[in-house]
Amino acid sequence: MRMRRKRNLEPRMEACAALLIARGKPCKNLKEAAETFRALTDYAALFGNEAPVELEVGCGNGKFIAELAVRAPQRNYIAVEQCTNVILTAMERVRAERIPNVRFLNVAAEILPCYIPERSVTRIYLNFSTPLPEAGREKQRLTSDRFLAIYKRLLVPGGQIVQKTDSEAFFEYSLRKFGENGFAVTDVTRDLHHSAYAAENIITEYEANFSAKGMPIYRAVAVLKEE
Ligand SMILES: C[S@@+](CC[C@H](N)C(=O)[O-])C[C@H]1O[C@@H](n2cnc3c(N)ncnc32)[C@H](O)[C@@H]1O
Repeated sequence: MRMRRKRNLEPRMEACAALLIARGKPCKNLKEAAETFRALTDYAALFGNEAPVELEVGCGNGKFIAELAVRAPQRNYIAVEQCTNVILTAMERVRAERIPNVRFLNVAAEILPCYIPERSVTRIYLNFSTPLPEAGREKQRLTSDRFLAIYKRLLVPGGQIVQKTDSEAFFEYSLRKFGENGFAVTDVTRDLHHSAYAAENIITEYEANFSAKGMPIYRAVAVLKEE
């Protein structure tokens, strides 16, 4: 179901402007933007320190990134979300809680190389990305070859992708794609909430919904092999 546009969206976005790195598409189409536009983020200027930077792609309402950033103040976080109506909730949460180490990119993940310097990110979180089981939509899956090629440009050698999903088919697809694209897969669980990783797990909005329905949560870490 399509979410209704939030009331006063623009003034509320403006109120959060200090947290926002960029918004929208810099060029006519995503392909052109990804290939031609560069406004690389200066992390030291943005965060005021040189701490390691982690990304969440598709941050939704920001529950996960806000909790993580409070738990790990020694790291910086960039939350990426293409939907303005959705990212606003995340930005308002971080602003209200005065969390200092989170910033936002309201852009499609396809154009992350426009904003994120190569080999600058230590970890990427993919939480409950839409599985898109239709064959014709494979390219849009956030663990397809196309996106893994992007993440490989952004990650430092040995950098990690941490994936959680409720979809067994999408999980198995992702494990295969990680292996085919130069990642070593580790810390795999097909029932996260009853595993050794449960204690440190931060439950996302979608995760809470799926879990309440009794669905198991799948989780794996993909480590970029050193070249
Ligand atoms: C199913 S929701 C999960 C939200 C949140 N991670 C959670 O676990 O509660 C997936 C989110 O990813 C965002 N998304 C999907 N494809 C994206 C893309 N290519 N770039 C940026 N965000 C994307 C959607 O707008 C949506 O908010």
